[in-house]
Amino acid sequence: MELPPRPKLFDFHGVSMTNYFTDNWDNVQNFQARPDDILIATYPKAGTTWVSYILDLLYFGQTAPERQRPIFEKVPFLELLIPLYPPGVEVLDNLTTSPRLIKTHLPVQLLPKSFWEQNCRIVYVARNAKDNAVSYFHFDRMNQTQPEPGDWNNFLQRVMDGKMVFGSWYDHVTGWWEKKQTHSKILYLFYEDMVEDTGRELDRLCSFLGLSPSAEKKERVRRGAQFDTMKKNSMANYSTLPIMDFKISPFMRKGKVGDWKNHFTLGHSEMVLPVTNLSWRVGE
Ligand code: A3P
Repeated sequence: MELPPRPKLFDFHGVSMTNYFTDNWDNVQNFQARPDDILIATYPKAGTTWVSYILDLLYFGQTAPERQRPIFEKVPFLELLIPLYPPGVEVLDNLTTSPRLIKTHLPVQLLPKSFWEQNCRIVYVARNAKDNAVSYFHFDRMNQTQPEPGDWNNFLQRVMDGKMVFGSWYDHVTGWWEKKQTHSKILYLFYEDMVEDTGRELDRLCSFLGLSPSAEKKERVRRGAQFDTMKKNSMANYSTLPIMDFKISPFMRKGKVGDWKNHFTLGHSEMVLPVTNLSWRVGE
């Protein structure tokens, strides 16, 4: 597939973006949410696919033949508009399954207002800044629709400046955190908690969604969504999406907490201290 050159970042309503997420802006802003929609909101590389896959297993199971499609088709990406694929909004408008599972990376202030009007449930996932940055770096290396990452030093400087697609990590995680304080329909999960005890976080998720699956089903979901299982599963590992070059780095890369230690020197750690040294949880 012939792809256009990598996109450039520009400022969009105070947030760094590329045209792949702004070209369809009016339709995104006018998107009509339905009351039973479930929105999965994250900063890129925080565990979006993991939670998407868990939700898909919980609601639709693995067996239904019509669900044997890649996760990026089953959980459409609201604001995405890339060559050769229908816009996320259009795919969602045509979805007849219920509930619709919807992915977004939008910062809270840019979310289309119908999600608030319809009082939809929202699952937000946050990941610690350093691992998030490492994962984002390798993702930008392998994904031709992302801006050129440059070398690790320059990339980290961009992280610090908030010059990333979907803006600053700090603004994103704190913006959604603040919203959660006044909005009861947001479940705020942490990637690290999910790694520590997936079963416990699955229980929190089910209770938030009003689901009571049997112990067997919960165990099936937990196992199906394990890193090694998802990595081997072509419906979950993005291997069918040609914009990604797995020879550079796989989408399901390590799935660990603390991989930043393999990338950060002491100097790097000091450099990102203003962002990561927060008393608040996700800055650990
Ligand atoms: P790494 O690059 O650190 O491996 P997103 O889906 O938001 O793009 O996030 C991708 C990150 O989540 C990748 O992190 C990926 O490996 C990790 N991930 C995906 N599924 C996972 C799972 N089942 N368990 C742990 N990590 C997972």
